[in-house]
Amino acid sequence: MRTVTVRVALVCLGLFVLSALTVSAVVNRVTEDFLNQQAEETVGAELDGLLAHYRQGGVDKLVQVLRDRTSVPRSPDLFVLTSPQGMTIAGNLPRLPAGVGSDGWVAFRTAGEGAGGPGGRAPAMGVMRTLSDGHRLLVGTELGQWQGFRNQIVRALFWSFTVLLAISGFGGWLVSRHVTRRLEVINRTTRTIIDGHLHARIPRSPNDDELDRLAANLNDMLEQIEGLMAGLRDLSEDIAHDLRTPLNRLRGQLELALSEAGEEGPVRDLIQEAIAEADRLLDMFGALLSIAKAQAGYQQMPLTDVALPPVLRRVVELYEPVAEEKHIALTVRITVPAVVRGHEQLLAQALANLVDNAVKYTPDGGRIDVTVASGQEPGTTDVVVADSGIGIPIEEHERVLGRFIRLDWSRSTPGNGLGLALVDAVVRLHGARLVMEDNSPGLRVRLRFPNISLQETEHECRAEAGEGDVS
Ligand SMILES: Nc1ncnc2c1ncn2[C@@H]1O[C@H](COP(=O)(O)OP(=O)(O)O)[C@@H](O)[C@H]1O
Ligand SMILES: [Mg+2]
Repeated sequence: MRTVTVRVALVCLGLFVLSALTVSAVVNRVTEDFLNQQAEETVGAELDGLLAHYRQGGVDKLVQVLRDRTSVPRSPDLFVLTSPQGMTIAGNLPRLPAGVGSDGWVAFRTAGEGAGGPGGRAPAMGVMRTLSDGHRLLVGTELGQWQGFRNQIVRALFWSFTVLLAISGFGGWLVSRHVTRRLEVINRTTRTIIDGHLHARIPRSPNDDELDRLAANLNDMLEQIEGLMAGLRDLSEDIAHDLRTPLNRLRGQLELALSEAGEEGPVRDLIQEAIAEADRLLDMFGALLSIAKAQAGYQQMPLTDVALPPVLRRVVELYEPVAEEKHIALTVRITVPAVVRGHEQLLAQALANLVDNAVKYTPDGGRIDVTVASGQEPGTTDVVVADSGIGIPIEEHERVLGRFIRLDWSRSTPGNGLGLALVDAVVRLHGARLVMEDNSPGLRVRLRFPNISLQETEHECRAEAGEGDVS
C-alpha cells in the first residue's frame, strides 16, 4: 500500500471498474429500450391484424381468430377479449389483468396463467383497445423471451470485464513489481553510499529509459561529489602532513637549543614553552590527519575484527595515573564481548579522547564509569563513558562534534577542540551512533555499535574478554 506503483495500480483499477460499470449501464439501457421497442412493434402489428379481422367479420370473426391464435402451445403472446359487461369471451388470459383501465399501453404480470404455461408471475406488456361496440381487447406479450436476450448480453459483458480485469490486474502487478524492483536497486545503492561506500554506483539496464537516465545522472553526481571530496581530503591531508615535517625539525632544533641552554633561567623556560607549543601543533595535525583518514571511508582502510574490551582496558590504564592524581574513581565494567569490524588504532584513539575529556572535565573527587553492555536496541552494543563533571548543555551536543569547537569554560584547560570531531568521524566510519546524555551531574557519551560479528566471534571473545571490573 505504501509504494507509489501500488497506489497508481489501485487508482487504475478503480477507474477501470468505474468505466466497466458505466459501459454496462449504458449497454443495459440501450438494450432495454431496443427490446421494448421490438415488443411494442410486435404487439402493435398483432393488434392491427386483429382489428382488421374485427372490421371484416365483427366479434364472431375476432373470436374465431383468437381461438386459432391461442391454440399455439407455449406462445408468449397474450390475448383477452371481454364483452361490454366485462365477461371474458376469448383469449388465453382468464380476465383482464387487475389495474388495466383505459385504452393504451399497459405493463402487467400474468400471474402464471398465460399461454407460456403454469409458472410464476411473469412480467408482460400489452395494449388495450375498446372496440366500437363496447367489447374490449387486450393484446400483449410476455417479456420473458426478450429479457432472456438481455440477460445474455449482461452475462457476456460481466465475463468480458472479469477476464479484462484479471489480465490488466496481472499486467499492473507485473509493471508495479518491475518498477518497484528498479527503484529498490537505486535505494539500496544510495544506502550503501550513505554508509560510507562512496564508490558504489547505481547499475543501469540496457533499455536507457527514464529510470536509467535518473541512475546515470545520480552516478554522474556521485562522481563529481566524490571527486570534490577527495580533492578536499587530499588537500587537508597534504597540509597536515607537509607541515608536520618542518614542525618536527623545528622541535628538534628547540631540543638542541634546550640542551645548550643553562640549567636554569628564563631562556630555558621560553624554549620549554616553545617545545610544548610545537607538541600541541603536532597533536593537532595528528588529530586532523586521523579525522581525514576516518572520513576517507572504508575503501582505504584495512579492516579487522576488533574486540573492544581489551582496547578499552588499555585506554583506561593509560588514564589511571591522571585520574588517581585528581582522586577520581575510574571504573570499567564489561558485560559483553563486543567485537566490531573496524580499525583498531582509530577506535583506540576515539575511546581515548572520550576518557581524556571525562578526566579533564571532571573536578577532583568525581567519578568516571566506563561500560560495555548490550544496547537497548536488539543487536547493538553500547560503549558508555559517563562522568560526574560539568556536562554539556543539550543545545551544544551537536555543535561540540565540530572541528575546533571548545565550550567557553574549557579555554583554561589544554586541548584543541578536535577530540570529539575525531570520535564522531570514527563512530560514523564504523556504522555506529554517538548519543550524548545528561548524567546529572556530568556527561554520558554512548557509542552504539551494531554487533556485526558478535555471533561468529562470541565464543573466542568470551574466553578472552571475561567479565567484571578491572579497576
Ligand atoms: N566530558 C565532558 N564534560 C564536559 N564538557 C565536555 C566533555 N567532553 C567534551 N566537553 C566539551 O566539548 C568540547 C569539545 O571537546 P573536544 O573536541 O574533546 O575538545 P577538547 O577536549 O580539546 O577541548 C570541550 O572543549 C568541552 O567544552
Ligand atoms: Mg578532548
